[in-house]
Amino acid sequence: MKTLLAIETSCDETAVAVLRDRNLLASEVASQIEQHQQFGGVVPELASRNHLLHLPRLLEQSLAKAQITIQDVDAFAATSGPGLASSLLVGSSAAKGLAIGANKPFLAINHLEGHLLSPFFGSEKIKPNISLIVSGGHTLLVKAQSVGDYKILGRTLDDAAGEAFDKIAKLLGLGYPGGPEIEKRAASGDASRFDLPRSMLGSGDLNFSFSGLKTAVRYLLPVILKRPDNACPAETEQSRDVMKNNRNVSLPIRNDQLLADLCASFQQAVIDVLREKSLEAVRRTGLKRLTLSGGVSCNRALRENLGDACGRNGIELIIAEPWLCTDNAAMIAFAAMQRLNLGDISDLAEEIDPNLALA
Ligand code: KG4
Ligand code: ZN
Repeated sequence: MKTLLAIETSCDETAVAVLRDRNLLASEVASQIEQHQQFGGVVPELASRNHLLHLPRLLEQSLAKAQITIQDVDAFAATSGPGLASSLLVGSSAAKGLAIGANKPFLAINHLEGHLLSPFFGSEKIKPNISLIVSGGHTLLVKAQSVGDYKILGRTLDDAAGEAFDKIAKLLGLGYPGGPEIEKRAASGDASRFDLPRSMLGSGDLNFSFSGLKTAVRYLLPVILKRPDNACPAETEQSRDVMKNNRNVSLPIRNDQLLADLCASFQQAVIDVLREKSLEAVRRTGLKRLTLSGGVSCNRALRENLGDACGRNGIELIIAEPWLCTDNAAMIAFAAMQRLNLGDISDLAEEIDPNLALA
């Protein structure tokens, strides 16, 4: 039986998890969303300071929840990239310090490998799959043959899918992070109301681009604002909800239904591209197993849409559980456990790398 403690501090979530073989004993996450919300995005300086502030408490809480002491831990792991340099340093230095103090191995883990393996969390075996990773920083299609055997099939050429959600939400005066805000509005919207571009669908490769979609929404917005049906009273249920959560924002679209329709149309455009490129990756490789992970995979419409498409095409779909989609340390612990089982431990001199590649 092996007990592993992992730390994740690559962006704006401070997280600690304890994993004993395949059993999760503790998983603590301190979100900094509120602190960054007023700036409409993550402020690196603020993020690293908050990691320093939260980490000692989360470490204590995790050990208490797992009902172990630091001496019971067989290995320490931390995310070493990609991410914000000053944030990565906090978690990595802490894990290294603990490993040195306890004279136990240290594992430097790639954040993207954490996401990639998260659909298999708790499973004994990682099966060969085509992995779609959709987060705030990345949109990747990967052929994953086994732990460590990864081949990048496609990636975004500009914005990541989550980044597109965040930027459009900001444009519409909705809160940060944008994904859940847009999903909430899209639920009551008509996705066929606005015809938005599905970029790169005919590109002949497996790469993505979301900046054209963002520009299309930017140009469409003034047109929507001038519509007579947007001239409803400023204070709607929708706008009250937004204003309550974000005092500094104004909501340009005043008509709830127009806003919902635009959110639904945008969300569907992103989903269509993610789905078609994933199906194409499956066709090209002949590997009939697709996995989905990363913050955007929380999106219910994406999960359902991919589920239907895979069902129709005889593809096995494995999606990370919602609590594992956004950043957490349980997925880092799971990836580290796979590495530890392969005897793949890291040198303490291994540096963090903000641009660490998956393959
Ligand atoms: O994986 P993650 O927590 O952090 C990174 O590694 O980047 O992903 C965060 C991203 C944000 O861009 C956020 O807007 C998006 O995931 N996201 C969503 C949803 N929940 C989070 N996007 C669409 N729909 C959601 N429900
Ligand atoms: Zn992530």
